[in-house]
Amino acid sequence: MNVLVAFGSHLGSTEAIAGRIAAAIRAEGADVTLRAAASPEPVDRFDAFVVGGGTYAGKWHADAVAFVRNHAEALAAKPVWLFSSGPLGATGGSAEPHPPSEMSDLVRLVHARDHAIFAGAYDRSHVDESELGRLEKFVAKRFIPEGDWRDWPTIEAWAHRIARDLVPGAIGAL
Ligand SMILES: Cc1cc2nc3c(=O)[nH]c(=O)nc-3n(C[C@H](O)[C@H](O)[C@H](O)COP(=O)(O)O)c2cc1C
Repeated sequence: MNVLVAFGSHLGSTEAIAGRIAAAIRAEGADVTLRAAASPEPVDRFDAFVVGGGTYAGKWHADAVAFVRNHAEALAAKPVWLFSSGPLGATGGSAEPHPPSEMSDLVRLVHARDHAIFAGAYDRSHVDESELGRLEKFVAKRFIPEGDWRDWPTIEAWAHRIARDLVPGAIGAL
């Protein structure tokens, strides 16, 4: 079972979530490749896909969107899970976080089994060297609260549920 975990990340927090998901699925016995969604490497050898991206101004990271659209045919024929990272701040109140605007189309396009929204993280020190545009950098530094709200047990439980669907004998979420 070859699983590709692909991520679009401007400031590193989604990349770390993808890494944690890859490690959890690997621990259940799958062969897992972790790779930037922008990578030009082919995807035909994979049996399943997990694709994640940060949410910026209501949109999913452009590399994650492009990955799903460009590989739609290959992905639609295999099990696919999608996740987005954002919002920032405590979740769990009555207001459900909004999915990125492209998400319902993409879920339909590749028949994704699930789309999970995970709380994200923001560290201002990564902004200057990032590929964010000038306006986003300005907004980030001026208005976005710094902190790390990533809920690792929730993220890992989601990854173990994926493994349970893919790997015979996987323990899955406890
Ligand atoms: C400029 C900027 C805009 C953002 N816009 C949103 C948004 O519209 N919705 C959301 O849920 N999170 C938003 N976030 C939070 C990010 O999605 C969150 O920090 C995410 O974990 C970033 O992923 P990355 O570090 O992989 O780039 C924004 C963050 C920044 C810096």
